[in-house]
Amino acid sequence: MEVLNYPETTFEKLPVTIFEESGEGAISIAQEIAALIRSKQQKGKRAVLGLATGSSPIGVYKELIRLHREEGLSFQDVVTFNLDEYYPMPPDELQSYVYFMHEQLFNHVDIRPENVHIPDGTLPIEQVRAYCQAYERQIEECGGLDLQLLGIGRTGHIGFNEPGSSINSPTRLVKLDPLTITDAAKDFIKEEYVPLRALTMGVGTIMKARQIILMAWGEGKAKILQETVEGRISEEVPASFLQQHPNVKVVVDQWAALELTRIKTPWLVGMCAWDNSLIRRAVIWLSLKTQKPILKLTDEDYKDGSLSDLLVEAGNAYNLNIKVFNTIQHTITGWPGGKPNSNDAQRPERAEPAHKRVLIFSPHPDDDVISMGGTLLRLVDQSHDVHVAYQTSGNIAVFDDDARRFADFALDFAQKLHVGATKMQREHAEVVEFLKHKKLGEEDSPLVQDIKALIRKGEAAAACRFCGVKEENVHFMNMPFYETGQVKKKPLGEEDIQETVDILQEIRPHQIFAAGDLRDPHGTHRVCLDAIFAALARLKGQEAWVDDCYLWLYRGAWQEWDVEEIEMAVPISPEELMRKRKAIFKHQSQKDSAVFPGNDKREFWQRSEDRNHATAKLYDRLGLAEYEAMEAFVRYRF
Ligand code: F6R
Repeated sequence: MEVLNYPETTFEKLPVTIFEESGEGAISIAQEIAALIRSKQQKGKRAVLGLATGSSPIGVYKELIRLHREEGLSFQDVVTFNLDEYYPMPPDELQSYVYFMHEQLFNHVDIRPENVHIPDGTLPIEQVRAYCQAYERQIEECGGLDLQLLGIGRTGHIGFNEPGSSINSPTRLVKLDPLTITDAAKDFIKEEYVPLRALTMGVGTIMKARQIILMAWGEGKAKILQETVEGRISEEVPASFLQQHPNVKVVVDQWAALELTRIKTPWLVGMCAWDNSLIRRAVIWLSLKTQKPILKLTDEDYKDGSLSDLLVEAGNAYNLNIKVFNTIQHTITGWPGGKPNSNDAQRPERAEPAHKRVLIFSPHPDDDVISMGGTLLRLVDQSHDVHVAYQTSGNIAVFDDDARRFADFALDFAQKLHVGATKMQREHAEVVEFLKHKKLGEEDSPLVQDIKALIRKGEAAAACRFCGVKEENVHFMNMPFYETGQVKKKPLGEEDIQETVDILQEIRPHQIFAAGDLRDPHGTHRVCLDAIFAALARLKGQEAWVDDCYLWLYRGAWQEWDVEEIEMAVPISPEELMRKRKAIFKHQSQKDSAVFPGNDKREFWQRSEDRNHATAKLYDRLGLAEYEAMEAFVRYRF
């Protein structure tokens, strides 16, 4: 569903269409491309498309393939020019854009190979300049780009035009921004393997396209999207040059739109339909902006903050302040499983039953302790029957040398005990041989995958032991969608959902905790959450316990809920924080440096502590009690 269209606000300098989900946005873009191809075909002409790679266009290509297969869309008369390619880069490497484009689109449609153009990452450096000029010429000889499809990098790059690129820049060799290199690391296993340079169409080349569609999905793009759409035109954000193009469309999902003024602070744009949640957001915003605790905000502050309309609705600042302060106050509880024998009318959790069956779903083997270790410890300390279900094996996130170390250990141990030592020797030799010849990004052999999964399993079990979770309450699901041995996963399948149904049925929890990364359109966490939603949807109406079950969402290692969303905030004392840290340390394979650290240099325990301190600080700034740290949850009503 298209939720909002380009409003007449003075803030947005580009036309933005917001879709609820990225998939819907991708389909609308694909349909627009298809319409262009067909209209050109009707005129006996070829459509010349500028194409992008990366995660953003995958959904668009998927829909184009569907249109080709099911609705006869032909690519016979389509000519394509890709934006960029890493340099140097052989075309058959898994990370090359040549590989990507064939895998994601060209192999599945009837495009003619001679109509496909992707910058050549294999050229000797002295030929690059002439090659880039020829690339530009080829585009012109084909009549110029009818439509250029663009993603946006967190640096504000389009193509690989990093900050500093000029509006007239041509196709050329460029160096990648450190942030872009960090973002690319997920495809190259390690940051040091990411090429430092790339060939890219210039901003000038892109600007010559007759039509441009820029797409952005997920919260990670929200900030740069706001700067691109609302900021001033500057070389610091090359995408902002698009403001000077006469025919651009920006297509985003609701999460990438989060920082746009009309979404983030709609009261600055016009009249609002005030409900409790928007009121809470506005008051918290005002408190943080004025650096005054909520209870000290005055009528003047509301008027100066463009919130006089809210005063009209609520009467005066005093009423508003008290109302919002109390709502936030009631989110704080040291009893995440409910406080026995207490009036729970204003508490996030119910008092009864005093001892609850709790099921914590952890997408990877360490998400439980990283994201809610303090709460987990409290739940165990407060005598709830705590179960942890590890949804995936997390095996791809183990370094090869750790796998080798454990293989050596297993062999030594077998030899020492004289148990199956000969077989073990054979398997060990196989592992050693595989790892010796393993190519960058190559899928692990099944044996190596098993070792890596066992390493992570042992770590999770150790962390549970440390937290006091009973051994029989630790469940390893190894959901099949994850087990591809690669970063790319299978879609969620029936087996995954059934396994989730089974574990829910077995435990019949009063409380579920799950990683609620709703805003991430890709990624394992979102798939794991979808499995839980699907399983609960099946059980609802059939099983009485489901009606009595609360589902609490925590955020993954990467970010926290916005303070206005939090429905349960669990304080953590300095001692508890130290225990939580030790539980995270049990995940030794992720310590010091992780295979997939994301775009954050801090270790997981540091991110987790910084985040828990920050939440506590925020509550303090709003004028609530000052705690050392806090973990935060949102309740999902299914
Ligand atoms: C890709 C390209 C880049 C990406 C951008 C976003 O050909 O030129 O500008 O569009 O880095 O990447 P994703 O889509 O992976 O977030």
